[in-house]
Amino acid sequence: MTKLSVSNAVPTSVPGPGSAPASESTPASGPVPGPESVSLAGADSANADAQRPGTPDVRPPRAIRLVALLGSTRRGSLNGALLGAARVLSPAGVAIEAFPIERLPFYDADLDARDATPEVRALRAAIAASDGLLVVTPEYNHSLPAVVKNAIDWASRPPAAAPLAGRPVLLMGATAGRSAVKYALGHAHEILGFLGARAFERRLGIPLAGQLVDAAGDLSDPALRAELAALLADFSAWVRASGVADDPGRLEVAA
Ligand SMILES: Cc1cc2nc3c(=O)[nH]c(=O)nc-3n(C[C@H](O)[C@H](O)[C@H](O)COP(=O)(O)O)c2cc1C
Repeated sequence: MTKLSVSNAVPTSVPGPGSAPASESTPASGPVPGPESVSLAGADSANADAQRPGTPDVRPPRAIRLVALLGSTRRGSLNGALLGAARVLSPAGVAIEAFPIERLPFYDADLDARDATPEVRALRAAIAASDGLLVVTPEYNHSLPAVVKNAIDWASRPPAAAPLAGRPVLLMGATAGRSAVKYALGHAHEILGFLGARAFERRLGIPLAGQLVDAAGDLSDPALRAELAALLADFSAWVRASGVADDPGRLEVAA
């Protein structure tokens, strides 16, 4: 079986992630989500009931909402298959929504000064309302594809209120080649760390991923699916343990 690469990396040290809810699942090719679409209907209803004094807190944990940035726009993308599997294998109470980053314009400071575009505003709102990011990307020429870097650049502004600051991030990627995406994931880790996001110490890089999908294009390899499910469970537990999901107001935007 293909050897997977689950690497350890030094986590960034920005304390205290936290955020408000993100969004309902929509396909990467679906409509650009607006701020109004980034809430999970009913997901917080149990938590909306305040605990009565003197009674044990039996409320279920609040749902975790992750915004996914998918670094490939092509049909039959291996990374698209990886994201699809992640959405299926994420633990109960965790929702993953792919934001259609291919619809963003290229970063332009003049455009940004004019309030950017609805797509850019939707990206910033979706990230700001999320509990974390999931970056699922191929490697292009030993780095990130431009579409991912462009989304990160938009999300890094304005500097005083960048929605990436303090946000937990899980990095993963697949390639048809043998390299395990280590440069792309490494660069993503470095960039996001610079921006104050908190990258999970484990990443998943999948070499020879073409051998791990079935005829329908689904990521079907049992060992990989188990690895992915475990990683998502551990990341979700880390996000929850950090207090993000229980205290949306805890995240402070870096000045
Ligand atoms: C412009 C370009 C550069 C690439 N550079 C790398 C690379 O540096 N390392 C690597 O492992 N694969 C590289 N690849 C191969 C892609 O990672 C591979 O095609 C991958 O399957 C693309 O992801 P996708 O299937 O999700 O579209 C490159 C592909 C393209 C188109």
